[in-house]
Amino acid sequence: MIETNPFLPPAQRISSFEPYFFAALGKKINKLKQSGMDVIRIDMGSPDLPPADFIIEELVNQSRRSDTHGYSPTGGTQAFKQAVADYYLDRFEVNLDPANEVIGLIGSKEGLFNLSQVILNPGDVALVPDPGYPVYSTSGIIAGGKVVHFPLLAENDFLPNLKAIPSETLEKTKILWLNYPNNPTGAIANMSFFEEVVLFARKHHILIAHDAPYVDICFDGYNAPSLMQISGARDVAIEFNSLSKTYNMAGWRLGMAVGNPDIINYLFTYKSQMDTSTFGPIFSAGVKALTGEQDWLEERNQVYKERRDLVVDGLRSAGFTLEIPKAAIYVWAHLPAGQTDSIAFCSRLLDETGVSTTPGVVYGKHGEGYLRVSLGTATDRIKEAMSRLVDWNR
Ligand SMILES: Cc1ncc(COP(=O)(O)O)c(C=O)c1O
Repeated sequence: MIETNPFLPPAQRISSFEPYFFAALGKKINKLKQSGMDVIRIDMGSPDLPPADFIIEELVNQSRRSDTHGYSPTGGTQAFKQAVADYYLDRFEVNLDPANEVIGLIGSKEGLFNLSQVILNPGDVALVPDPGYPVYSTSGIIAGGKVVHFPLLAENDFLPNLKAIPSETLEKTKILWLNYPNNPTGAIANMSFFEEVVLFARKHHILIAHDAPYVDICFDGYNAPSLMQISGARDVAIEFNSLSKTYNMAGWRLGMAVGNPDIINYLFTYKSQMDTSTFGPIFSAGVKALTGEQDWLEERNQVYKERRDLVVDGLRSAGFTLEIPKAAIYVWAHLPAGQTDSIAFCSRLLDETGVSTTPGVVYGKHGEGYLRVSLGTATDRIKEAMSRLVDWNR
């Protein structure tokens, strides 16, 4: 629970919250570092590599101009929205109207959070995956919605069993959250699953929010689809995407939502009251990223693949069980036999070896018994982390 001051108490809507897991972990890691420990962070999904030079050059050049320092338009410049539409056409053969079906975001997390605020009335159900990216639930709770989790289980390839959701729940449901390629499990979804999802949304009158920031980080010849490729998807769905992971631009805070024009308009209206957009040169650099040469992503994905293979081998030698992920920047591994408490396990691992991983339970109760390793750390540090882990578990 948040620390409260009885004379200046917080609003009820935030009083049941803890600070975001990584904010608290960062504090603990700083203390360990101050005590002299060499900490290797393979916990957070923040890419360590920079964007391509031509993207950085655009930011620098645009920033040097005298006429780029005022406010940018809410929801992004026309050029940025056009670039998103061009990217969707080029990458997925999906035609989007940049004026009505695209909105720029201050990173996709902002849009995910705001979507709950513009869709949920108190008591409306939000169906949220467990394990899942925490913002789907926290944003729903803050909006006054009723968050109902559905499990993502290994035996179902971490896809939801939509048929198992009770009809009484569906009657109250406004929104269903999905995320493929998936954080934290690394699972992927195919087109036939997406077709089933669109039919399901139509039948039950539910908005699908598909969060797809890892769609361009794929391995072994896999090519992740967009939900928007399904015919009729934009009648019932919105898709979030981001430059954070695809283009190594996590700190730049640039993302987008595409799809249903009414939902895009709700987000636009809400945002226009709340934020004042992103720095213009960042939008310009985003245009270059989305529409410029894409070949460097292939090389970058090879770096992630090499790291993935190191982590898979290391974790397996240390007694973990796992599936090799075909996409995203995570390895989701079941703890060695006899270990069930992921927070206690990861905390001991950090204290005794300096290797920081994320306990699976942070992503929901069905994440208990797992840990997540992120591939967004230098390859030699990942090698060192795996060797410490194997020695520790011997
Ligand atoms: C599934 C998922 N969605 C959204 C985000 C947020 O990305 P952004 O940097 O675009 O806000 C993340 C970041 O880790 C994520 O894993």
